[in-house]
Amino acid sequence: MTPEHSPPPEHTRGRPGAAAVVTADGLVKRYGLTTALAGASLAVRPGDSVAIMGASGSGKTTLLHCLAGIATPDEGVVHYGGPDGDVEVTALSDARRSALRRSQFGFVFQEGLLVPELTAVENVALALMVGGTARGEAERLAAGWLAHLGLAGMEQRRIGQLSGGQAQRVAIARALVTGAPLIFADEPTGALDSHTSADVMGALLGATTATGRTLVLVTHDATVAARCARTVHMVDGVVAADRSASPSPSPYTQPSAPPTVSPSAPPTAPPTTSQSGREDGR
Ligand SMILES: Nc1ncnc2c1ncn2[C@@H]1O[C@H](COP(=O)(O)OP(=O)(O)O)[C@@H](O)[C@H]1O
Ligand SMILES: [Mg+2]
Repeated sequence: MTPEHSPPPEHTRGRPGAAAVVTADGLVKRYGLTTALAGASLAVRPGDSVAIMGASGSGKTTLLHCLAGIATPDEGVVHYGGPDGDVEVTALSDARRSALRRSQFGFVFQEGLLVPELTAVENVALALMVGGTARGEAERLAAGWLAHLGLAGMEQRRIGQLSGGQAQRVAIARALVTGAPLIFADEPTGALDSHTSADVMGALLGATTATGRTLVLVTHDATVAARCARTVHMVDGVVAADRSASPSPSPYTQPSAPPTVSPSAPPTAPPTTSQSGREDGR
């Protein structure tokens, strides 16, 4: 629908799925008389970090949900170019879509949607245990991610014993621990003050891009968007503008494309030693 949707020819060559991690083409989604999406198109490439901006009600969350297979559009198609090749998400059954979400996607929402009765490490480990990882191994990997995100020593705290920023870091660890190549975040810093927001965004971007993942992020905060390699603007249910932070290829895309995570999305340990990318917001 939008001109920028058509990838240049070089992106169509090579491995299936190498052109884009996820592609939305002409999405229409109606809720009763409300048209949430009116022909939205977007292609997200491996290793990219894309901020989706736009006024409240412009369709940002609906687009994210359609990309992630949480919602199904009334018209249009979504493709996911995973390690296993191309999957038409919009053609999958509910069961297959939820299996795809579980194995391939990580989610961070405005409210972390963490389980308050569980500790930080249990919340993160749970994401692995639902996929069949044994508890001991799951908690070991979870603790590694918590430490990587600056939460060493807080593993045994319940969510209510953490600050908002710390709780969001737990949510980020939970999204990344499964090895999911594609991370979706909807206003992940929307409930945080600006200082904490910058801090959490640094953690999210650093941890995502340092491990070669792709990030699609909804935000209304221009400071948050500025830290992503690319920003798209939604107006009335369509992607109206699309801009990269720099005209040259993003530094994110070079070392990381394509995703190196296998189809079964094995649990991952956080990147070791080097701090590279940790606070690399740009
Ligand atoms: N589940 C729903 N039921 C009814 N209307 C909805 C639903 N979800 C979204 N909408 C409507 O669709 C439009 C786009 O919503 P949304 O995607 O949440 O926008 P944004 O995230 O940009 O604020 C809004 O008018 C909203 O009220
Ligand atoms: Mg929204």
